[in-house]
Amino acid sequence: MTKKAIVFGITGQDGSHLADLLLSKEYEVIGVSRRASTDNTGRIKHILQNSKFLLVQGDITDAHSVANILKEHDDVDEIYNLAAQSHVAVSFKQPGLTWDITGKGCLNILQSIEDLGMKNVRFYQASSSEMYGKNYDTDREQNKFQNEHTKFLPQSPYAIAKCAAHHMTRLFREAYGAHASAGILFNHEGERRGETFVTRKITKWIGDFEKSGRDPEFPKLRLGNLEAFRDWGYAGDYVEAMWMMLQQDSPDDYVICTGETHTIREFLDVAFKHIGIDDWSNLVVQDPEFYRPAEVDYLRGDNTKARTKLGWELKHSFEDLVRKMVKHDIEN
Ligand code: NAP
Ligand code: GDD
Repeated sequence: MTKKAIVFGITGQDGSHLADLLLSKEYEVIGVSRRASTDNTGRIKHILQNSKFLLVQGDITDAHSVANILKEHDDVDEIYNLAAQSHVAVSFKQPGLTWDITGKGCLNILQSIEDLGMKNVRFYQASSSEMYGKNYDTDREQNKFQNEHTKFLPQSPYAIAKCAAHHMTRLFREAYGAHASAGILFNHEGERRGETFVTRKITKWIGDFEKSGRDPEFPKLRLGNLEAFRDWGYAGDYVEAMWMMLQQDSPDDYVICTGETHTIREFLDVAFKHIGIDDWSNLVVQDPEFYRPAEVDYLRGDNTKARTKLGWELKHSFEDLVRKMVKHDIEN
């Protein structure tokens, strides 16, 4: 029988990849998009005419709007909450808005599921490695890592809102028996990544620099902290893990990551090497504007549980990811 899923955050990087995956599995997909004064469907243009895809308007900060969408589609099998104000730096400037969307929005969906008695629906919450903030565990060789047992020590309004949503998801599972799972996803990137996240900002700049014919007058790439470590994977691989979580008999939380970590400086090295530049120091300027009031210095996940319990596999290496992004931004 055809399965049906609702995706909140359909117009985002992950929403678009997840929609592609679900449609390839013959799902009917209902994508929820908020009203915008300009077109926000750039990442899903290629599926708008698909007869199995329906785009509906809604905003997760509005409980009435969420409830109406769920009432209208109360026969869905799966609901994915990928909607968020997802930019960490922005969350310091707009903490209230971030709270309403990234924290309370999740509650609005969970409460509607419960109020409408949708006992058979399976729910996915997009949790984040940002929730670990300053914290990590260490293995016998003193290597740092984070897994499902590492305590959260969030360092931004975004991460605090994500912690609230994460615990709310667990609570609805334990209190009401909801089939609610959270994926604690580490940074994942790709050709559809928002242009203000550091990886895409770098590859987009390289693409534009190449298109300028390496014009010596081309404005320099302005970045903040280059020493933070991130565990970067490819977004297309990560949406498969989301789907796998909802195919399990029992709901649970899973860390999704590569297990490797690199600094922003290393990302720059690999990205510039793709255009034959070994020394990028005269092309990049460190600008205080892009430093954060509080930083997350080190993220490196342990994906053992996802690999062993879900059978999830990583398909792209760090080098593949950077190559894909640079190539895309040079060609498009
Ligand atoms: P993204 O590209 O920023 O997409 C966020 C989506 O949320 C967009 O579709 C956005 O709509 C939508 N949205 C924002 N406010 C909304 C509202 N009030 N009502 C309804 N929709 C709203 O984020 P992403 O990279 O795809 O990430 C997906 C989810 O995973 C997010 O929750 C993010 O916090 C989380 N996450 C991401 C990563 C990562 O590395 N990418 C890692 C861990 C967790 P518009 O297009 O209209 O703005
Ligand atoms: N965005 C940005 N822009 N970041 C910069 C810049 C810059 O110009 N310069 C240095 N950075 C550093 C940030 O300080 C941070 O240490 C690192 O680059 C990564 O920043 P982002 O790409 O903005 O990602 P993030 O790690 O803060 O958050 C992303 O990953 C989280 C999972 O860990 C987002 O996708 C979150 O939504 C997600 O939860």
